[in-house]
Amino acid sequence: MPGLADRLVQPEILDGLAEKDPRAITARRDLVLVNRLMFQQSIMARLLEDHVASPPRRILEIGAGDGAFMLGVARRIAPKWPRVELTLLDRADLVTPERRAAFAELGWPAKTVTADVFDWLHSADDACFDVVTANLFLHHFADADLARLFSALRPIAPVFVATEPRRTGFAHAASRLLWMVGAGDVTRHDAPASVRAGFRGSELSALWPAKHDHLDERRAGLFTHVFAANRSEDA
Ligand SMILES: C[S@@+](CC[C@H](N)C(=O)[O-])C[C@H]1O[C@@H](n2cnc3c(N)ncnc32)[C@H](O)[C@@H]1O
Repeated sequence: MPGLADRLVQPEILDGLAEKDPRAITARRDLVLVNRLMFQQSIMARLLEDHVASPPRRILEIGAGDGAFMLGVARRIAPKWPRVELTLLDRADLVTPERRAAFAELGWPAKTVTADVFDWLHSADDACFDVVTANLFLHHFADADLARLFSALRPIAPVFVATEPRRTGFAHAASRLLWMVGAGDVTRHDAPASVRAGFRGSELSALWPAKHDHLDERRAGLFTHVFAANRSEDA
């Protein structure tokens, strides 16, 4: 097996499966478990609270999947942030009416956008949010694409936060044990691939377009690499 010193971005099986393919359905169920094992929702809730000074009105999540992840985050922070207009963007249309209703009940009405993030950002001239979030999403992209993505995101929101796989031997070894909790074949492939494509050090900060912004990049929990960028308004 090649080492983990450098990122290795490889195609993930889930990305090539049709939305209703039974293997994709199993993999999305596994993703809920993986997010739970990594404590991703608590880590994201904490990151948001740490980096967003006043209750936001408009949040965009990119690569939002079926919305299960953000619903868990919303449940944690809705008591403090009671009214949020949420936009869930993903190239697959996966958010069910039941999930929308669950968001609405929390006071977080959710709009969905089904689009490739790059295409959407290219055409969304009037997009304006208080914060943009991403979970287990950035690692899908090579560095050059991430630099392009960050340049397009910075003008549309003063805060960007992301929770991604951390590229360590420990995380990689753990990801190879997911068969023990019943993960399907797609997850058994995609989880180690995600770690190999994950981040360490200040790799994401190096790709952010404005070095004078306040950047926070570090380990969180056992398996997670977090990145937050607060736009500096004085330059
Ligand atoms: C690993 S899943 C994470 C989903 C969700 N954030 C979660 O934690 O459950 C990655 C998601 O990114 C979406 N995705 C991948 N490339 C994309 C792109 N270029 N534009 C929009 N969505 C994309 C996939 O459809 C998938 O739902």
